[in-house]
Amino acid sequence: MNFRSFLNDLDERKELVHVTERVSPKFEIARRLKESVDPFLFEKVHGGEMKVAGNIFGSRDRIARGLEVDREHLIDKMRESLSNPKYPNLSSEGPVQEVIEEDVNLHELPILKHYENDGGPYVTSGIIVAEDLEGNRNLSFHRLQQIADDRFAVRLVPRDLHRIFRESEDEGRSLEIAAVLGGGVGLALAAATSASYDVDEYGIAGALAGELELTSCQSVDLEVPARAEIVTEGKLLAGERVSEGPFTDITGTYDVVRQQPVFQVDCITRRKDAIYPSILPGGPEHQLLMGLPREPIIFEETEKVADIRDVALTPGGSGWLHAVVSINKKEEEDGRRAVEAAFKAHSSLKHVVVVDGDIDIYDPEEVEWAIATRFRADRDAVIKSGVEGSSLDPTADPKTELGSKMGIDATKDLDNLDKFERAQIPE
Ligand SMILES: Cc1cc2nc3c(=O)[nH]c(=O)nc-3n(C[C@H](O)[C@H](O)[C@H](O)COP(=O)(O)O)c2cc1C
Repeated sequence: MNFRSFLNDLDERKELVHVTERVSPKFEIARRLKESVDPFLFEKVHGGEMKVAGNIFGSRDRIARGLEVDREHLIDKMRESLSNPKYPNLSSEGPVQEVIEEDVNLHELPILKHYENDGGPYVTSGIIVAEDLEGNRNLSFHRLQQIADDRFAVRLVPRDLHRIFRESEDEGRSLEIAAVLGGGVGLALAAATSASYDVDEYGIAGALAGELELTSCQSVDLEVPARAEIVTEGKLLAGERVSEGPFTDITGTYDVVRQQPVFQVDCITRRKDAIYPSILPGGPEHQLLMGLPREPIIFEETEKVADIRDVALTPGGSGWLHAVVSINKKEEEDGRRAVEAAFKAHSSLKHVVVVDGDIDIYDPEEVEWAIATRFRADRDAVIKSGVEGSSLDPTADPKTELGSKMGIDATKDLDNLDKFERAQIPE
């Protein structure tokens, strides 16, 4: 389902909250999105004509519905999309180009300022499309800090887009890119997947979305989803860096100011009645879109060493730093093996709890109960120090970004199963 069809579906189900009074893009929309997990449509926004949507994919249920799959089968669906990519077809036109603006003024977009000490207004739902010199294509989310009428500062964590840009810069060339806003949840999850460098994430997006058609950009040699809401086209400027940040990231704490590349926007294309999608930084939508694609990766790695039932990155761990893995324990070492495999699969993971299959991993009280009754710290903890973790962990060393990790094996001791039996009350 594309973004617009999904909004219409939410509306038909009477789930979309319409805010009809005029609201400010500075803090007010962010505050409303923080107060409730409901999906919102802000119909009138100060300073422009465009409506703003927020919290749209802010729950597992809504993400599953957007992918037309049961919530229980989200991981299966994502795993399948990795092994069976479906490349979208090219269309000669699409609603995303109903309006073409070459005289760029980013102030026409309702770019939100979210938190008190953020460095400025930020586009938070932009998915950047780029291609390297050999034609390897990449999709990834990058926050865009508006720094001028036609320029953004772009946060590039050293991953694929960072590599593509550096290679282009080494040849003295700026890199053509396009930022897609409102491309649908299949596109979003594909963009947040760290597939290997030579994998075209549009194939994953096509497999997840079911229907996805691309169209050629107006001013750059790239393709974007034909039914997206808004696209900004332009280039990452070779040799230019500006201060980017502070910015409230997934943990709800401020990420630091860094020197980052500049995105010069040369053209904006959009639907006639484009709706601007916002993702509240540190909110459930941000956490789910970023964290969910790591779950199948953790599943596949842990599956190599134990019989895995389920994997979840938890809301309390900001959907990124904490995982719970449930296993059907067969051997005493299974829990510790699963801990090691989970850390291997998701290097940003800080803490992981491994539980037995009878624990509901989506219920924090159940998980804590398993720790209380099945875990002994001097025997079942795996502690690592001075290891690579997440740049978003405020306890990591600010220079080296090295930190510590802990794995908790909260599975039952196989030799003493009767001690762990959950008492039942007979009928
Ligand atoms: C809402 C959202 C915002 C994100 N913001 C950034 C960002 O500003 N910079 C960044 O490098 N990654 C960001 N990410 C994470 C990347 O999109 C993600 O790790 C992606 O897999 C990287 O792709 P790559 O491995 O192809 O480079 C964000 C993810 C989400 C869901």
